[in-house]
Order: sequence, then C-alpha cells, then structure tokens
Amino acid sequence: MELTDAQADLTEILITEEQIRSRIAELARDVERDYAGKDVLLIGVLKGAVMVMADLSRELRIPVTMDWMAVSSYGSGTQSSGVVRILKDLDTDLSGKTVLIVEDIIDSGLTLSWLLSNLKSRGPESIEIFTLLRKPEAARVEIDVKYVGFEIPNKFVVGYGLDFDERYRTLRGVGILAPAVYS
Ligand code: XMP
Ligand code: MG
Repeated sequence: MELTDAQADLTEILITEEQIRSRIAELARDVERDYAGKDVLLIGVLKGAVMVMADLSRELRIPVTMDWMAVSSYGSGTQSSGVVRILKDLDTDLSGKTVLIVEDIIDSGLTLSWLLSNLKSRGPESIEIFTLLRKPEAARVEIDVKYVGFEIPNKFVVGYGLDFDERYRTLRGVGILAPAVYS
C-alpha cells in the first residue's frame, strides 16, 4: 500500500508530524526535571508505542534503559475487550526500579489499568505513565497519568505507531480512520 493510499483512508489529520515532535520535546523537558539524578526504565507497550518510544527516548537527556511488553486486548477490531493477555513479558526484573510506562494511546483505559496493577505487583520503586494520546470521553476506568501528549476525540485513530489490522503504523502524523474502512 502506498502512503498516499493510506492517507486517502483518513477523514482528517488530527495531529501533524511537527506537532508530535514539538510536544514530545516539551514533555521530555518535564520528564528530565522530574527524574533528575535517576536511572529510568522506559517500558514500551508493543507494538503501538514503538514510535513514541523511539522519539521520546532519544529526546531525553537523562540516562534511560528500555524494555518492552506485548499485550493483547483487541484482536483486529476497534473495541477493547478488557481481557488482557501477555504476549511478550519484560526481560527486566522491576524490583527497586524507577519505571515510566510509554504508551501510544489510552482509550477505555482497561488495558493500561490491568497492566499497571500487574507491573506494580513486581515491586518497582515508582511507576508512572507517559502516553502520546488520550481519549477522555472513552474512559471506563480512572487512571492517574503523569504525561499526556494530546487529548483527542472519541474516534478511532491511526498513524505514528497506531494501526488498524496492522496497517497505517508508518504514517507520520495521527489521523482519524474513515469508518468505511472498518465497518
Ligand atoms: P484501551 O481501550 O484498553 O485500549 O485503553 C488499549 C489499546 O487499544 C489500542 N487502541 C487503539 N488503536 N486506534 C488504534 O490504532 C485507536 O483509536 C485505539 N484505541 C485503542 C491501542 O493499542 C491501545 O494501547
Ligand atoms: Mg497499544
């Protein structure tokens, strides 16, 4: 699929590449200040958070390490099932670690709330959340999120790591997927 075809499947570009770049840089300054003197373990949630992780980690001017987890709650649809499975666990022992979870999007919050309690039970010193996107209107659980890039409307979005059926992840901005594509 050509990128131009991918773009034609969007009803709207919600956030441009440049807006993402400058917002991540802005939040990186907050993270650096909040974690000065600490070694931070960034935990990326595969696969959607790959782009956020790549850009945030390289923007940060404090020492960080990275680990990855893959969970599944969706299949190929567009609705969270709330049933979470670990597809790939961390390689790292979390005890005593300063952890920052890096997410692409918080929608209902069901996946992250499950993940958070799972990771907390492993004894980290602290654990906080960084997400590029959040849909406030879709929230079904209350989660304390320390860093939010953009609050977006309750529409299915793709690009910058986010997919529909594994497509559109390489779009550089974030756009609303035309409902005709998935209905
Ligand atoms: P919940 O609803 O549990 O969603 O917070 C968690 C995961 O679902 C995916 N997700 C999306 N993926 N466009 C996507 O491409 C969306 O609008 C969207 N909403 C949720 C995503 O993997 C997220 O981590
Ligand atoms: Mg995700």
